[in-house]
Amino acid sequence: MTEAIITPPARRHDWAHLIQPEQVHGSIYTDPAIYQEELRKIWQRTWVYVGHTSEVPNPHDFVMKSIGPDPVLMTRDKDGQVHLLHNRCPHRGNQVCEKHRGNQKSFTCNYHGWNFGIDGSLRGYPFPSGYAQDQRKQLGLGKVARVGIYRGFVFGSMAEEGPTLEEHLGGAMQAIDNLCSNSPEGEVEVTSGFLQHKVLANWKFVMENETDGYHPAFVHASIFDVAESQIGSLYADTSSAVTRYFGNGHSEVDLRPEFRLRDQPLSWFGTAPEKLPDYVAKMNAAYGEAKARQIMVDGTPHIMIFPNLFIAEIQMFSIQPLSVGETVQHVTALQFKGAPDFNRRLRQQTMGSVGPAGFLLADDAEMYERSHRGVQEQKPEWVYLARGSHRERLDEQGYRIGHATDDLCSRGMWQHYRSLMEAV
Ligand code: FES
Ligand SMILES: [Fe+2]
Repeated sequence: MTEAIITPPARRHDWAHLIQPEQVHGSIYTDPAIYQEELRKIWQRTWVYVGHTSEVPNPHDFVMKSIGPDPVLMTRDKDGQVHLLHNRCPHRGNQVCEKHRGNQKSFTCNYHGWNFGIDGSLRGYPFPSGYAQDQRKQLGLGKVARVGIYRGFVFGSMAEEGPTLEEHLGGAMQAIDNLCSNSPEGEVEVTSGFLQHKVLANWKFVMENETDGYHPAFVHASIFDVAESQIGSLYADTSSAVTRYFGNGHSEVDLRPEFRLRDQPLSWFGTAPEKLPDYVAKMNAAYGEAKARQIMVDGTPHIMIFPNLFIAEIQMFSIQPLSVGETVQHVTALQFKGAPDFNRRLRQQTMGSVGPAGFLLADDAEMYERSHRGVQEQKPEWVYLARGSHRERLDEQGYRIGHATDDLCSRGMWQHYRSLMEAV
């Protein structure tokens, strides 16, 4: 007698219970079933940051990127168009590309030699007489359903339909515009290579930490002391900086109020105009002295674009979940087109903060891992997010803002997360 195999019905989560306005349930970081559901409802549906056009500047360039745990090839075809391709042969499923980056006119699958153009189209296969009909048109590499590019930042969505990239980014577009204005040519370049940091923690701990302005005073106290930096005051109880929630999961710590009080160009970068004369001259020529001065006083944004792009003043992170308890942060120094003297210092500072012996990211990584281990304890069950609820207000554009050290950004992320997870 054969035993019937009964598949249990998929567990339904009560999102309204798990995600409340001022607390979320600890299991949301550690439950493998929730992670699987996130893959479907977030990573395979919403807009996800993939890469930057400057990583594939020439026709036939390609670079290996990812959407969630899945590899994605970002390529540029001979006409300049950027494509996002799944790294999976339509024949028997082999990965067609093993290289991290390069320039070539086509990809050849190692298993049976099928050959694909840089745009993913199937160009040919060996011994074609074995197929009754020419199937090339039907059998290319899979494509990420939608590709959207804003100011060189390339996003992909695996859903055929949904909000446009512009609708998804909303107010975050202003922050990207502000970032680009720090280049005398108005463009960011991603050309300085990537470091990869893997942590044994759920991706949401990483995402939430990026605009958590409460922890720096404690977790990063050592680097603030050693470097005699002025960063500490930005995240002090007395700071005039604000947290802002843009909607759709995006949030920032807006440090400009503090920098405007200082009113010193390049103070945000810990330097002064006389140290970067070429950069300052080019900025003045590009924008006029008054606007250039304002840009250099304000500095660059500190913004988390849901679910995986973190622009952190001088560097940029892309967050990649590998499993429910493993996350990689891909980090690169931001580079501004037309600013070689500035760029050299941006690379050096990035190495000092998030490089292999860097002072900043190692401290954060330890916190992610301790949080992930901690929430596996059942008591108390909840993660508490009420800090600053009583002092939230709206800015002149109607975005919710709070003190630099408040939990406002996390509350916003969870609100958006819940709306995505509640969708069918
Ligand atoms: S699996 Fe790619 S050619 Fe056969
Ligand atoms: Fe930190």
